[in-house]
Order: sequence, then structure tokens, then C-alpha cells
Amino acid sequence: MFPRLSIQIKYSFVFLLTLLLIAAGLLIGTYNLKERQLRNEAMAVAEQVVAFRAWVAGTGVVWVDHLASEFPDFLSKKVVTGANASAIEFYAKNPALATRELSALANKTATRATFRVTSDEYRNPANAPDNFEQASLRLFKSDKERKYNDGLEGGFYRYSQPIFVQQSCLKCHGDPKDAPPEVIEKYGDKVAFGYKVGDVRGIISVKLPDVTLTDVLSSVLNPYTLGLIALAFLLNFFYAQRAIIARLKMLAKTTERLAHGELDLPLETRPGSRDEVDYVTRAIDLLRNSLVIAMRRLQKTGS
Ligand code: HEC
Repeated sequence: MFPRLSIQIKYSFVFLLTLLLIAAGLLIGTYNLKERQLRNEAMAVAEQVVAFRAWVAGTGVVWVDHLASEFPDFLSKKVVTGANASAIEFYAKNPALATRELSALANKTATRATFRVTSDEYRNPANAPDNFEQASLRLFKSDKERKYNDGLEGGFYRYSQPIFVQQSCLKCHGDPKDAPPEVIEKYGDKVAFGYKVGDVRGIISVKLPDVTLTDVLSSVLNPYTLGLIALAFLLNFFYAQRAIIARLKMLAKTTERLAHGELDLPLETRPGSRDEVDYVTRAIDLLRNSLVIAMRRLQKTGS
């Protein structure tokens, strides 16, 4: 093949092709790893949210004695008489409300992950689900075994996992008759009621910037990997040069000289060697011996 090219050049091409194939394999591998990494990261965020909700839900609601200016929402209020008969107002924050405020804070300072809790039956308009979240909700409702849903969308990695209704949720999400009056007062008796234990109440939705090809390439193409690739190339290049090409050239020259009559030239035959060039050398040696015998016969019959 390609008689105009030397083995050296062809071998270099094969090396580069090999390199490209390995690079493609690595890239596919890294891409799979990327998806796993992103998923792990999103799961870790979701676990934090679950833990935080559980912390608030542990006592039903959390009472605060004043409201931060950026978070004026509360579920209910109670007045407690403190020392020297002063009245202290307390405000209740339920798990969903506290989580919404946590996510607002976290998302404002987030450099990577943002998260929120949403549902197909949302009480707060700020919790309305987007397309990915709606699709996730449908998925979790039709398949209760499904642990998470994820995908890439517009340069982001999206992740969601279901929130199931537990016994303790029924107070505010079961029969409206059981609900605290402040819930009815604030949100009405229609939305987000009528759930049973085990129903999908909503999802935790996490958003992360996608790892792009440029990110992958910039981490792969550093001076160390490039140096190692160059080293591998030189190693291959010089091995091919010394072990095959230089010896073949020598052999070709010697054979040419044999053909021109220098029959007593020394040939390094290395008996028993499995090296292919040595094998060719032995074959040429045999040919030379046959030539010598044939010449002798000719000379005999001639004289
Ligand atoms: C004390 C009453 C109360 C309890 C108990 C309660 N919730 Fe809620 N839940 C609410 C209120 C009020 C909202 C609306 C919060 C807001 O304004 O963001 C809400 C909202 C939610 C949302 C967000 C979607 C939306 O409607 O805006 C989810 C999901 C949710 N609750 C799940 C649960 C789960 C799961 C439990 C049990 C572990 C639970 N809730 C227990 C009162 C409650």
C-alpha cells in the first residue's frame, strides 16, 4: 500500500491515527464520567434540601421572632407574653416556605448549583414548574420506582427527584377540614389538598452548568499529557527507525552488493532469532549459498 511513502511516514500516520482513536475513546469515557459527576453533585445538593426540610418538618414549623426584610412570608403568627409582660410576636415557617427562602438565598450566591422545590399543584406562584420539571412530575407520578430524572438542556444539567407525601404532611395536604385555619386563610381550601401517603407531592429540582467539550479538552490538553504523547511518539518513531527501517536499508544495500558479485560479504544471520529482519537475513544468506553453489557448477561445466 502507498508505495510512494516510506515505512517511517506510514508508521507515523498509523501512530497519529491510533492516537486519535484513543483520544476519541477517552473523550467518550470522560463524557460518561461527566454525566455521573454532575448527577452525584446534584444528588448531594438534593440530599441537603431533604435534610433541611426534615429538620423543619421535625417540629412541624419553625417559629422566628421577627421577619427578615427580604423574607416577609409566614404561615401563622402567635403572640407570647415575655418577661415584664412584653408581647413578643412569633412567625411560623413551614418546611416548603423555609425551603423556598433557603433556595432564594442559596441561588443568589450560587456559583454552580441552584435548586428549588416545585409541584404540579403549587400554592405559591413562585413555585410554578417549568417544562423539564413538569415532565419530571409526570414521570414520577406514572412510575413510583423512579428515583430521579435528569438531562441536559440549554447548557445546563437538570436533575429532579420526587418528594413523597408522608403521614405528617396530611395535616396541610390531606383533607382541608384537618388543615390549620391559617393555611386555608392564606392559600384557600382547593390547592394542594387531597393527597394520600405515598403520593408524589412535588420534586426537588437542581440545576448545574453543563460540562462542555471545551472544559473537557482544557483539562485533558495540559503540558503533562501533551508531553507524554510527544514522548510516546518519539519512542515509537525511534524504535521503528532503529529496529526495522535502518536494518532493512542495510540489508537492501548488502543484498545489492551480493547481486553485484561480492559473494563473500558477511551477513549477521543470528540463528534461532525470531526477529523478522533476522529471518529475511537468513533467507538471503541461503540464497547467497545457493548462488555460490550454482556458480561453482557453472564454472565446472564451463571448464
Ligand atoms: C403546616 C402545614 C404544612 C405541612 C405540615 C406540610 N406542608 Fe407542604 N406546604 C404548606 C404550604 C403553606 C405550602 C406553600 C409554601 C409556599 O408559600 O412556598 C406548601 C408547599 C409545599 C410544596 C411546594 C409546592 C407548593 O405548593 O408551592 C411541597 C412540595 C410540599 N409542600 C410538600 C410537603 C410535604 C412532602 C410535606 C410533609 C413532609 C409537607 N409539605 C407538609 C404547608 C404544609
